[in-house]
Amino acid sequence: RIPLVIDTDPGIDDALAILLALASPEVDLRLVTTVHGNVNLDLTTENALRVLHLAGRSDVPVAAGARASLIHPQPQRAGHVHGAAGLGGVQLPPSPARLDPRPAVVALAELLMSSPDPVTVAPIGPLTNIALLLAVYPEAATRIGRLVVMGGSATRGGNVTAAAEFNIWSDPEAAAAVFGSTIPTVMVGLDVTLPTVLTVEGIARFAAAGPIGATAAAILQQYLDHARDAYGVPGVVVHDALALTEAIAPGSLDTVRRDVVVDTTLGAGRGQTLVDRRAASSAQTAVEVAEGVDSDAALEFLVSRLARLDGT
Ligand code: BDR
Ligand code: CA
Repeated sequence: RIPLVIDTDPGIDDALAILLALASPEVDLRLVTTVHGNVNLDLTTENALRVLHLAGRSDVPVAAGARASLIHPQPQRAGHVHGAAGLGGVQLPPSPARLDPRPAVVALAELLMSSPDPVTVAPIGPLTNIALLLAVYPEAATRIGRLVVMGGSATRGGNVTAAAEFNIWSDPEAAAAVFGSTIPTVMVGLDVTLPTVLTVEGIARFAAAGPIGATAAAILQQYLDHARDAYGVPGVVVHDALALTEAIAPGSLDTVRRDVVVDTTLGAGRGQTLVDRRAASSAQTAVEVAEGVDSDAALEFLVSRLARLDGT
């Protein structure tokens, strides 16, 4: 089983991504680290604890990370997308588990240094914690087997500005450090997430499986309304769950090695991922950009796995 860490800002699709990992025997979720992003850090951390508890997995440690972006404050949170508390207005029962006392970057570094097997790390929020790891514990960062990032966009423009995708825009300096590092990185951006639309019928399948699936479906309701208004699609774009699919089953997405630069200027392009699509990169440090997705297969994977959480 692949040791896995999820770095997250729950977040509706983050909640789905965590549940997908818990439902997947290929991976062993060893740690959840939290970051500011969709809502503030206190809420993302509380939500992570509660989502794990929902699935009966409050044994998975949760360590809280960065409260703010590295340099410039994130201009705006995403409570209008995810609900003021981050989980679409659903109140999950509190977890009996205590927060790991270590800062996220320490918990992550210690896990990386002690794991005999390469660890997959899936950042599905702003990249602040991962940039801090690179800066503070570079030797631990080199032990990351794969970094599967939800963020960016090569061909689709942005979702939070005309240029930028939310996670990259929230901390462009951090993203620049991560995409410029030597860690083997997969960028799962809007190119593959936007066409992968979880339909009302798909949601109904895991909603019917039992109480965990029904709660996941309830959390998604607000996102469903947002997706209809923002993207004009009859379903939900569960960005972060698609990144987890690639983390759980490597090769689920078609990737091409590309040179990626993050716009860290303070103008209209801030947070854009400039992906050089003229040719595949030959650089060792370049990022694998997800460019192709079998959306039907990815959605079937997600729906059938989520239904398993209730033991069906
Ligand atoms: C990303 O932004 C967040 O709102 C979602 O959770 C996802 O990680 C999509 O752009
Ligand atoms: Ca997220």
